[in-house]
Amino acid sequence: MEKPDKELFEKIVKIAQNRGFVFNASSIYGGLRSSYDYGPLGKLLKDNISKLWWESLKTSDIRIYPVDTAIIQSTDVWRASGHLSEFSDPMVECKNCNSRFRSDIVLDPPCCDQQDLTSPKNFNLMFETNIGPVKNENSQVFLRPETAQGIFVNFENVLRTMRAKLPFGIANIGKSFRNEITPGQFIFRTREFEQMEIEFFCKEEDAAEWKQYWTDKRLDWYINLGLRKDFLRLRPHEPDELAHYAKSTTDIEYLYPWGWGELEGIADRGNYDLMAHQEKSGKDLTYFDSKDNTKHLPSVIEPAGGLTRTVFALLLSTYKEEQLENGETRTLFKMNFDVAPIQIAILPLSKKDELIIICNQINSLLSTQFRTEIDVTQSIGKRYRRQDEIGTPSCITVDFESLSDNCVTVRNRDTMEQERIEINSLVKYFKN
Ligand code: GAP
Repeated sequence: MEKPDKELFEKIVKIAQNRGFVFNASSIYGGLRSSYDYGPLGKLLKDNISKLWWESLKTSDIRIYPVDTAIIQSTDVWRASGHLSEFSDPMVECKNCNSRFRSDIVLDPPCCDQQDLTSPKNFNLMFETNIGPVKNENSQVFLRPETAQGIFVNFENVLRTMRAKLPFGIANIGKSFRNEITPGQFIFRTREFEQMEIEFFCKEEDAAEWKQYWTDKRLDWYINLGLRKDFLRLRPHEPDELAHYAKSTTDIEYLYPWGWGELEGIADRGNYDLMAHQEKSGKDLTYFDSKDNTKHLPSVIEPAGGLTRTVFALLLSTYKEEQLENGETRTLFKMNFDVAPIQIAILPLSKKDELIIICNQINSLLSTQFRTEIDVTQSIGKRYRRQDEIGTPSCITVDFESLSDNCVTVRNRDTMEQERIEINSLVKYFKN
């Protein structure tokens, strides 16, 4: 097993900014700490990952219903779910410099030379805001800290309208917000991030089996996405670190440049949430089992992943440096064809009109089925380097011979091998 590589972190942050994956938010005003904007390639990458996540949920054996729920819900939701009272981190403040930290994370290095910390206080992580023109207690609302509660409060709606039968899942993807005391490590921990969550409803006696099913399935999904298998591991939570709603949790962890950290958590939430919402709302959230004419609150297995954290892990995992024969180093992201922001780059050898025309024709041929881009700036060597560095698996080069033989050169990112392919066969070639 390889050791974590601290230098890698700096390199990824630099490439992400220089190549258009991730920018500091509000950068023209000096930036807002720990807030990030996704550039054209980052947005594509994020969308591709989320699409692959949805696709992986379309299996023949179980039914997963998609929802897209509001970021701002009634405050009653957070009261019932326990987030108002429980969703906090222990915070300490330095009496000398007033810096604030999570007391469960060791300070390294100390904030100032007279570090003198207060005793820990619980700090609620939910962002508060107000709805409507009048700001008072009744208008106070919170930005959701997890997409999960949007699912629980719609359990009965989905059950009724979709005539759902146990076991089944409901999946939600989108932004969540946490006023993290110590955000950082680039897009690993931010105050605004995206989650991809499934609440899988099943009978209590089947919960352990379904937890295993989802743990295996989600781990495989990350491996198929292109994350290094030897940089992934499963870690069951110790009893004292369980979230307030969880009976048991297993984390899928990734080996980040600073060490192991969470990528996704698979929790057995029991019927904690449905019970809480049933009690507080007074609505019947039980499931009627027509087989034995009984009613019960289903158990829940929750695979909760971070979309933006997955973007980061994928960049880290697929980054490679290779020594070329001429002594230069080429850097590349070895991303799978499915997930790469650009799948095929079309490069004219020169900017002459006749070559550009062919490039445009090839682009019309391919762009309906693949993510393509025509790249005309700089020398062909520099363009290959740029495409390698944004993870493009294939480059098509159009040269003067293409005018007569109707063929182009296709270069493979990983092997750098080149093949001459007929323009009319390109769609078939890339489909294979
Ligand atoms: N509904 C359960 C839940 O939210 P969680 O472990 O707090 O569980 C799930 O969050 C995932 O969301 C994490 O595994 C991580 O990938 C992502 N996540 C959580 N907080 C984050 C943050 N501040 N920045 C980026 N991603 C975060």
